[in-house]
Amino acid sequence: MIRINEHYLKLQTSYLFATIAQKINEFSENNPEREIIRLGIGDATRALPPACVEAFHKAVDEMAADGTFRGYGPEQGYPFLRETIARNDFAARNAEVNADEIFISDGAKCDTGNFQEILSTDITIAIPDPVYPVYVDTNVMAGRTGPIRDGRFENIVYLESTPENDFIPQIPDTPVDLIYLCFPNNPTGATVTREALAGWVDYARRNKALILFDAAYEAFIRDDSMVKSIYEIPGAREVAVEFRSFSKTAGFTGTRCAFTVVPKECMAYDASGSAHSLHALWNRRHSTKFNGVSYPVQRAAEAVYSEAGKRQCAEIIAGYMANADRIRKEMDALGYDYVGGKHSPYVWIDAKTDSWNLFDMLLNKAGVVCTPGAGFGTCGTRHIRLSAFNSAENVETAMARIREALGH
Ligand code: MLT
Repeated sequence: MIRINEHYLKLQTSYLFATIAQKINEFSENNPEREIIRLGIGDATRALPPACVEAFHKAVDEMAADGTFRGYGPEQGYPFLRETIARNDFAARNAEVNADEIFISDGAKCDTGNFQEILSTDITIAIPDPVYPVYVDTNVMAGRTGPIRDGRFENIVYLESTPENDFIPQIPDTPVDLIYLCFPNNPTGATVTREALAGWVDYARRNKALILFDAAYEAFIRDDSMVKSIYEIPGAREVAVEFRSFSKTAGFTGTRCAFTVVPKECMAYDASGSAHSLHALWNRRHSTKFNGVSYPVQRAAEAVYSEAGKRQCAEIIAGYMANADRIRKEMDALGYDYVGGKHSPYVWIDAKTDSWNLFDMLLNKAGVVCTPGAGFGTCGTRHIRLSAFNSAENVETAMARIREALGH
């Protein structure tokens, strides 16, 4: 008899963004004349930067001729992209990351979800609340948690991000083995100080723990003196893996390209306490289960770092951040408390009611989609997230409709 992985039965019935998509579809079917503005899922709306498009086309042409055609590439990514990333994202910020420590992949969602596979199921994990649901769900699937009770899975140490701690999770007072951090944060948009991040690195080193640091939104940090990579913190190479993505940086949500950094010093331990290289284990897993990102996509990603690519990405991001400013201004005017939106495309707003209530109200009365905070954890039950990924015109219209819906 074929049997299922019963840990899947502990999960909520569907993934957050799938549930929201279904609600939107139902609304559209019932209200075909209503035009919906989506400020829910953080999906790029601006076209790819022209420098990326040009590189993409050129690489497709190479694939069209026998002499320049490429078959399987290196699973870890082509050296041209890994070296460009190491130089631009890390060496330029005095963060030590070597090209062969960078693993190119098709998404930070997959990498943040898959990385736990190379770790024991018998470890203590600390996960922020609210949080990007992928971190929790993939640990549930792997069997690291007990069942869910009152919205929380047993055996997870939840790191609460609330107005009381300025939405920055505090270091737990009990030892944990695996810690998920995301800054600028999804969903709250909060950012971390260098000192606070150094505190986490210090904790991880003292406890032989591992930090999985999701930096998918670093490109939205507007103050260059703020920490962008965990490897800007001394000692982080021993205890941290970092995830990056071209999805939000360069509009690659549909194109798919990301990378994970696993420094060679980063160790994890077997039952007898002997150290093993996570780089070697991840390399083994990655090359067994993944066949690499397509050559044209990697060439398009490389173009993100060209002079034109950098300028064009900065201009696109500035447009999204102007939307975030617009959302913050509206929330100020409406008297809603919020965090985020300064160095992040997300604004995390105190809903003053249950988050699904406000979601339904905004959808039905304003035709605007937000993300209900409850989908990110119990600490989100009274917040909603508005995403700045849309056109300036749509954000302007959405703000006017929200104002009217909220009775102002
Ligand atoms: C989000 O809206 O939280 C993200 O777009 C989801 C993702 O990156 O997978």
